Amino acid sequence: MAKLIIEGGKPLEGEVKISGSKNASLPIMAATLLADGECFLDNVPKVWDVRSMGFVLRTLGMRVEEQDGRFKIIPPKMLHYEAPYELVRTMRASVLVLGPLLARLRHARVSMPGGCAIGVRPVDLHLKGLARMGAEISIKEGYIEAHAKGGLKGARICFEKKSVGATENIIMAAALAKGKTYVENAAMEPEITDLAGFLNRMGAKIKNTGPGCLEITGVERLKGTFYRVIPDRIETGTFLIAGAAAGGEVTLKDVRPDHVKIITDKLKKMGTSVDIKKNSMTVSGKKRLKGAEIDTDPFPGFPTDLQPQMMSLLCVCRGKSVVRETIFENRFMHIGELQRMGARVEIRGNSAVITGVEYLNGTSVMASDIRCGAALVVAGLEARGETCISRIYHIDRGYEKIEDKFKSLGARIKRTS
Ligand code: EPZ
Repeated sequence: MAKLIIEGGKPLEGEVKISGSKNASLPIMAATLLADGECFLDNVPKVWDVRSMGFVLRTLGMRVEEQDGRFKIIPPKMLHYEAPYELVRTMRASVLVLGPLLARLRHARVSMPGGCAIGVRPVDLHLKGLARMGAEISIKEGYIEAHAKGGLKGARICFEKKSVGATENIIMAAALAKGKTYVENAAMEPEITDLAGFLNRMGAKIKNTGPGCLEITGVERLKGTFYRVIPDRIETGTFLIAGAAAGGEVTLKDVRPDHVKIITDKLKKMGTSVDIKKNSMTVSGKKRLKGAEIDTDPFPGFPTDLQPQMMSLLCVCRGKSVVRETIFENRFMHIGELQRMGARVEIRGNSAVITGVEYLNGTSVMASDIRCGAALVVAGLEARGETCISRIYHIDRGYEKIEDKFKSLGARIKRTS
């Protein structure tokens, strides 16, 4: 099994280009099912989750060609309606084909995605929203069986809690439904705005009518189009935090500073300097930073996908820090690994109280999900000695050539097979 070996304690210097957003690419790829013509996507990251979505689309009959982050996706004469368990279980976001299949075929059979390391990850909000639009949904042998006789109809949908995936499924379903759909308490992550931008380029009529409010007027058809995916804000945040943790001076190219404002503000308050230009950012820091309080929240709040990485940094900051995880019920798997490196963290329910130590010690640790893996890379870069990270296939699901990017910044990091 491949591992990452990191010799820590060396400041990072130089510049690195941030890849396109995984979490924008996945719903946008699913949305190509709605088009009756070819779609061309650019700036798609070469990560495993994107490859998995490509396999799902091919299973549904789409022709998917990829070269260097550029995708050409061609619809078949007739789509298949089933997304099998073997594929869906490897990548939960496959459930995002549910809305488009129902909208196009009035029928879909999609495996329940199942849980993962960070939580149970139910899809009840997806199903309730689609049912409001007239879909008849049942769960049989672990599959979601959905039918929309007469086609989906516009509806008023008010989500009881913000859900990125459920919002995305409803937007895609409503784009081709009969009539208008009004959504309240929609998630408003930049990835959702990017999905809406792609759909509107295809001819959809999606309007943001206020914070968390969307108005979608269904249309007859959606045409193929070209689209460039936004930069990955979670990768951006990961490298900002790594730069602050390792010290030195790191410039990130092809970023959207407005998508990571809360991280930048936090890092500045902790004592890091962050220089912001139109689409690049430079983080530099030498001295030991001050601790902080972090509450994860839906956008524009602090992203749960950067909570583990930030915790790695807080472990070596001065004083006490508190991290509250409000999105997922089990997203502290990285703490056990950080404690093995000498971190002082006490878990109290969905909060973690961190007492900063002067340094962490490298040792063998294990990734349990994408962002836990990224947090261990940050910890390895700031630690003294050698850190060996196993199960790095988790990291490869969401980061494109992570070791090459850090190596280009002078990090002593290598992948062993
Ligand atoms: C998306 O997952 C992201 N994945 C996650 O990133 C991210 O952590 C999450 O949003 C929150 O920002 C992709 O975009 C592919 P949710 P998603 O529906 O859509 C509960 C990464 O590392 N919920 O917003 O699955 C759910 O259990 C991944 O890139 C329901 O209860 O997240 C969670 O507690 C990890 N019922 C909360 O809502 C539902 O029907 C937020 O989940 C759906 C969700």
